[in-house]
Amino acid sequence: MSGFPEVRMRRLRRTGVLRQLVRETQLSPSDLVYPLFVSEAESDRTPIPSMPGVDRLSIAALVQEVFGAWEEGIRAVLLFGIPEERDETGGNALRDEGIVQRAVRELRKEFPDLVVITDVCLCEYMSHGHCGLVRDGEVLNDETLELLAAQAVSHAQAGADLVAPSDMMDGRVAAIRAALDAAGRESTGLLSYAVKYASAYYGPFREAVDSAPRFGDRRGYQMDPGNALEALREAALDVEEGADILMVKPALPCLDIVRRVKDEFGMPTAAYQVSGEYAMIRAAAERGWIDEREVTMEAILAIRRAGADLVITYAARSTARELAF
Ligand code: PBG
Ligand code: ZN
Repeated sequence: MSGFPEVRMRRLRRTGVLRQLVRETQLSPSDLVYPLFVSEAESDRTPIPSMPGVDRLSIAALVQEVFGAWEEGIRAVLLFGIPEERDETGGNALRDEGIVQRAVRELRKEFPDLVVITDVCLCEYMSHGHCGLVRDGEVLNDETLELLAAQAVSHAQAGADLVAPSDMMDGRVAAIRAALDAAGRESTGLLSYAVKYASAYYGPFREAVDSAPRFGDRRGYQMDPGNALEALREAALDVEEGADILMVKPALPCLDIVRRVKDEFGMPTAAYQVSGEYAMIRAAAERGWIDEREVTMEAILAIRRAGADLVITYAARSTARELAF
């Protein structure tokens, strides 16, 4: 018995319950991380045009949004801050009274069991829009590490469970780990954007937080999309430096990398379905060309199948609702 007609693959595809019984990849709301934009200038919520369904939120609106998400089964959020003022040194990123720090304290108070993750990067706080300090048109690596470490410590002190550096400076995981430990925050985890490509799929995000670089681009620090072995080296360094979870970003264009990172390191692995991935689905669905719910579910399932334990997605709430049925 080695094949057809004894073997018939269609037997287990006959009904929905049979298919569910043998499905290899499971998805639950607890696998999802919901990214949120909290803005200092905001009095309530303002839609982001290139990300339909995603808003910039005041702290009060953030709490309301997380309440809704929690009810639907979402247990983890990733916070991005939008300050009122930007400067050359990203000063507002480090303040204890900064927007993210205040938001974290508020969420901690309202939702004791929520997993609060904060994005650690300076681009939203810099007048030039780059992810680090700039001198003579160069993004400085080592000088930036101190600022990132201070930002991470202030997020941890506000109550973040995990800090997630997205800057792609070399050595930042080690610098942040050391600073957290020195501040007595050895229990705060590090979700590293280990493999972050210089991707055109971040376009809508940069509109959302107004962080497009005012000169040049991010190819001097983010990865070249042509490289896979380099992704493994990046991930290996972050493991050595003390990362607790490795992230690959963007997600759908990098399923091969998700799989290789998962197989190579066996670490908790995250993938970020980024703004452009979300926007493409929404835009095509608005024209009636694809089914938004089915395409979203298929994309997230594929990301899980590739090896991601957690999926960061703007569609977290709608997906959780979908899973409830
Ligand atoms: C900031 C940051 C970016 C994203 C996450 N953190 C943008 C960038 O690197 O330009 C992208 C997220 C998305 O597109 O949804 N360093
Ligand atoms: Zn950045």
